[in-house]
Amino acid sequence: MAELPELPLTFIRGPYEPLLIDHAEGAWLYTADGRKILDAAAGAVVTNIGQGREEIAQLAANEMRRANYVVPIWSTPQRQRLVKRLARWTAPGLTRFFFTSGGSEAVEAALKFALMYHKVHGRPRRTKIIAREASYHGNTIAALSAGGSLRRADYEQVLLDWPKIKPSYCYRCPWGKTYPGCDIDCANALEQEINRHGEDSIALFIAEPMMGSAGGAVPPVKEYWPRLAEICQRHGVLLIADEVMTGFGRTGRRFAVDHWNVIPDILIGGKGLTGGYLPMGMIAVKERLVEQCEEQGAEFMFYTYSAHPTACAVADRVLEIMEREHLVERAAEMGARLGAQLKEELAGHPMAGDIRGAGMFWGVELVRDRASRAPYPPALKVASRVVAAGLKRDLFVYPASGMARPGGDAVMVTPPFVIGNDEIEYLVSRLRATLDDVHPNLQ
Ligand SMILES: Cc1ncc(COP(=O)(O)O)c(C=O)c1O
Repeated sequence: MAELPELPLTFIRGPYEPLLIDHAEGAWLYTADGRKILDAAAGAVVTNIGQGREEIAQLAANEMRRANYVVPIWSTPQRQRLVKRLARWTAPGLTRFFFTSGGSEAVEAALKFALMYHKVHGRPRRTKIIAREASYHGNTIAALSAGGSLRRADYEQVLLDWPKIKPSYCYRCPWGKTYPGCDIDCANALEQEINRHGEDSIALFIAEPMMGSAGGAVPPVKEYWPRLAEICQRHGVLLIADEVMTGFGRTGRRFAVDHWNVIPDILIGGKGLTGGYLPMGMIAVKERLVEQCEEQGAEFMFYTYSAHPTACAVADRVLEIMEREHLVERAAEMGARLGAQLKEELAGHPMAGDIRGAGMFWGVELVRDRASRAPYPPALKVASRVVAAGLKRDLFVYPASGMARPGGDAVMVTPPFVIGNDEIEYLVSRLRATLDDVHPNLQ
């Protein structure tokens, strides 16, 4: 029999060299041909607790032997344990959970819950969803509609026309101001948009507490989120924090909204929830909102793989490991070290613009001119070039490629929380060398 041709991984090829990853350990990827690559992106900002934990592999195998699937309408010990633990992780009142297979599905669930909530309360006209111009909320049609990244481009023809406001982007203030002051304008833009459409047409506002892949790890000023929360509450608009990337310790707090003591109506999680050991996403909804829907007899349809028992057990163990090893605190402490070293090593580099972040969530803006912070033309795909050049030096950082308007390119440096001092030094020096490699070719 003739040998089958090697099958492509996916039907569209990405811009990076093809790699055959054989196995992974901690923050390192090992290729089949013997290379060792530092995964300074934690995959897609996922592998927070590091790769290769035997105790999780054992647990998953045991759980699968007990029951490999249970329809989501019933409980299981794994589901109960996870819900109890999550209720200790989330803010008071944010204690009703719904599980999905990933972040995009969780975003859909959050949007749908909010729409259902308004409908069962006799407000079926509250159907509009306000989001931010530069944002990424996932890859389904509704999540792309809510988002504002260039990933929308090929689907604009069918996306829902939901209103957008400018992001909080203080180092590049959309209003041309300098801090202080712009935070209020950024947040007030939400109120203006609500008033423009009429509050009784707006169901919800959704945003990432710190902008992820659409901008490259951009924390807002501290007044921004409290102000958004206050505006939403005043107008009866549900506030949704998309913490798929920033949740579960990534920014040095359990959730990024904890930096400002904001409790959203719905919090969305994914990625770090299972640290990549299994696919899973979730929403945490205010108890009161769910109760009110239940009182009206509302039902919320599950996905087939909602609360998969093995995924629940794995998520519970991942969070237990985070508690046992104090990994949120470690993300804060080692992250501060990482940020300081990035600033020290790269601040004078001709193509390094803003270097910003929190915890293990850092972004390095890539600029054509350091003084004016002028971005490179998007067609140059500078972030992709830096990622590709980094791989040649056995370093993986995450692209935030030309998606933020008017932001330009950035790379994200978001390693697993277990990264050590030597690895941070390796990371920072290789990133510097990578920028040195790329810069002369852009002149
Ligand atoms: C903020 C945010 N929301 C949602 C998603 C979508 O999650 P997933 O890719 O797991 O569907 C992502 C993915 O990067 C994200 O960063």
